[in-house]
Amino acid sequence: MERYRGLTATNGSGQFDSARRWFSVVILGIETSCDETAVAVLNSNGITHLLSSQVDLHKQYGGIVPELACRQHIEAIHPLVKEVLHRAQCPLHKIDAVAVTIGPGLIGALLVGVSFAKALAYGLRVPLLAIHHLEGHIAAIFLEHPKILFPAIALVVSGGHTNLYKIQNKGKYQLLGKTRDDAAGEVLDKGARMMGFDYPGGPIIDRLAKQGDAERFPFPIPHRTGLDFSFSGLKTALMRKLSEHEDQRDQFFIPDIAASYQKAIVISLVQKSLAALKQEGARSMLLVGGVAANSLLRHRMKEETERMGIALYLPSPHYCTDNAAMIAMAGLSHFERKCFASLDIFPNPNFELT
Ligand code: KG4
Ligand code: ZN
Repeated sequence: MERYRGLTATNGSGQFDSARRWFSVVILGIETSCDETAVAVLNSNGITHLLSSQVDLHKQYGGIVPELACRQHIEAIHPLVKEVLHRAQCPLHKIDAVAVTIGPGLIGALLVGVSFAKALAYGLRVPLLAIHHLEGHIAAIFLEHPKILFPAIALVVSGGHTNLYKIQNKGKYQLLGKTRDDAAGEVLDKGARMMGFDYPGGPIIDRLAKQGDAERFPFPIPHRTGLDFSFSGLKTALMRKLSEHEDQRDQFFIPDIAASYQKAIVISLVQKSLAALKQEGARSMLLVGGVAANSLLRHRMKEETERMGIALYLPSPHYCTDNAAMIAMAGLSHFERKCFASLDIFPNPNFELT
């Protein structure tokens, strides 16, 4: 792995995943929608997944540069596929289907993964499975929880999305609410940047907030009617507080403001999720996407769902952020339903999940 810059093993080779799943079908999953090139194999050895993160590359620009992201995906994808297959002890001819993220995402970045997946599926004469990125995030749950209670409410909360879905059963999604402006992850990233931190800021705020006093700076809790979210006002409130305290910051200022800001976002996410659970009479709650790795959000959601007697399903933190295991898992469900994509399918950066 050392041969490839930024390549990180997130799971042992040929080992069973912590969930100890065993798969009778072999699915190769590919994810290149944004700034991680990720590849995974589901087979009788369990789940093997690797990713090549571009975080260090984009850090110096303060955000993702699409052109650089595409070039990096092109460099990383082939070695990554070879390495994952090797670690999974899976020869090419054993692959039963190739699953790939088809959208939403950056068009150039998606194109790299989709072109690679199409060529591989064509060459191997196996089905191509076209996966919505958010369906992938939701499928991360099934990596560790094969059976869940339906109907479920899913909060998909990432750098690009904050969506609430009702899931009647596997593969049937109804959008109940979404953010009217920024996604929660974006608000955390931009907030962290205003505080002087690098991208991605979500994990930094999570860490800082643990040492901070979340009551010190009251932020307005974002409210919208219904199940929609709105976070842009919070960003403005943060900007104002930072400039008001420009010259009078004690050593606790940054942790305290990070904790207060994070708390306001988490309260809004939890409130709307509970409202959706009640409105739909759902039996379980799924919390997925990069921001689902947030400690306070996980903790608060657990407390509230326990109080309501609702089952909560959370992926392990390494399955919350972008990865290809979740794409392969969503692919397995498409494969079982014989939901195969045509080889002339094109990536769709604005793909809707229905
Ligand atoms: O799902 P993801 O990896 O990519 C998208 O599909 O957007 O989510 C990335 C987002 C970023 O905004 C990042 O700051 C946020 O997830 N994130 C976190 C944490 N880990 C990642 N936000 C809060 N707390 C975390 N621990
Ligand atoms: Zn994502």
